[in-house]
Amino acid sequence: MINILKNHPLRDLNSFHVEEWADCIIEFNQKEDLNTIFSQDKAPQKWFALGGGNNILFTQRFEGALIKPIGKEITIKAQIDDCVIVKAEAGVEWDDLVAWSVEQGLWGMENLSLIPGSVGAAPVQNIGAYGSEAKDVIERVHYFDVEECKHHTIGNAECHFAYRDSIFKRELKGKVIITSVEFRLNKSPHPKLSYGDLSKEVEVRGGSTLKNIREAVCAIRRSKLPDTAVLGNAGSFFKNPIVNKSVSEELKHTYENMPIYPLSDEKCKLAAGWLIDKAGLKGYQKGNVGVHDRQALVLVNLGGATGAEVIDLAHEVQHAVKEKFGIEIEPEVNIL
Ligand code: EPU
Repeated sequence: MINILKNHPLRDLNSFHVEEWADCIIEFNQKEDLNTIFSQDKAPQKWFALGGGNNILFTQRFEGALIKPIGKEITIKAQIDDCVIVKAEAGVEWDDLVAWSVEQGLWGMENLSLIPGSVGAAPVQNIGAYGSEAKDVIERVHYFDVEECKHHTIGNAECHFAYRDSIFKRELKGKVIITSVEFRLNKSPHPKLSYGDLSKEVEVRGGSTLKNIREAVCAIRRSKLPDTAVLGNAGSFFKNPIVNKSVSEELKHTYENMPIYPLSDEKCKLAAGWLIDKAGLKGYQKGNVGVHDRQALVLVNLGGATGAEVIDLAHEVQHAVKEKFGIEIEPEVNIL
């Protein structure tokens, strides 16, 4: 089924809730619909694959077609020893899939509870939280190549996953539309509780069951991250910067409590939220936009903001962090 919505408002299709418009939204629920959409004479010239709109900032009218998967099927494809392969269509809400996996007693996604967005968007930026990343459970990704008008499947290794990164943000950017994702989940317990206060929150709830981990993650997220229905936002606006060890060691001399996450012998990740906070910008407001007062990594729409206002604030934040720490922070959000 294909739905074409012409001259459509985007306010409810982006979690920042900025008031922009698109020439056209094309919803589809079967992967074959994409062959129909892109093989006809009037195939869209300019297009963008839109998931839940949770990692996107519209700064102007979108003069093209936003292609939106709406298929919501979840199926168990295979059981191999202790593992279960689950296939979810791109239009499934990510957290609905996590809730389903927890109900089924399947381990692997519980730390990724309550991340807003759709299944089709999860591999693109390799969503991650509380010590887990989507790459830890993704088995393979099915996508449609628009230029070739053909469907393909690639395995986990071919996706070149890294921190908030994948082949879909690089070689395949702007070329493909993800139609479904397969995940490898585990029937036996594999709790991952080493991130921050997670183990404490799980203990309070009676120990490391799937349900308790999900509830603990949801509670931590709700306490820090703004509800997009109340304050428009796109989660972390910036990526945590990856720097050489020598840079972090030097900063550590001055800022003893600065969080550092080692990645390899040479590289480590810093907490952009901490840097913004210590640059004095947590809770800062400017016109209709602001830096969230409980998590400085999140920029918020205080009401009626335009994309351009968000960008201005983002530049100010980047500048302040660069001035104070000499560190460049980059947006995680897609800017259109
Ligand atoms: N911190 C501050 N002040 C702040 C924010 C953070 O001092 O305003 C400190 C915290 O105290 C902590 C450290 O910075 O020591 C890291 O903070 P947090 O645990 O909140 O995680 P984060 O690195 O800021 C990342 C992800 C989040 C994810 C959390 C939990 C990125 C860009 N963001 O944030 O993902 O929920 O870890 O795993 O990697 C998202 O991508 O939209 C998102 C919310």
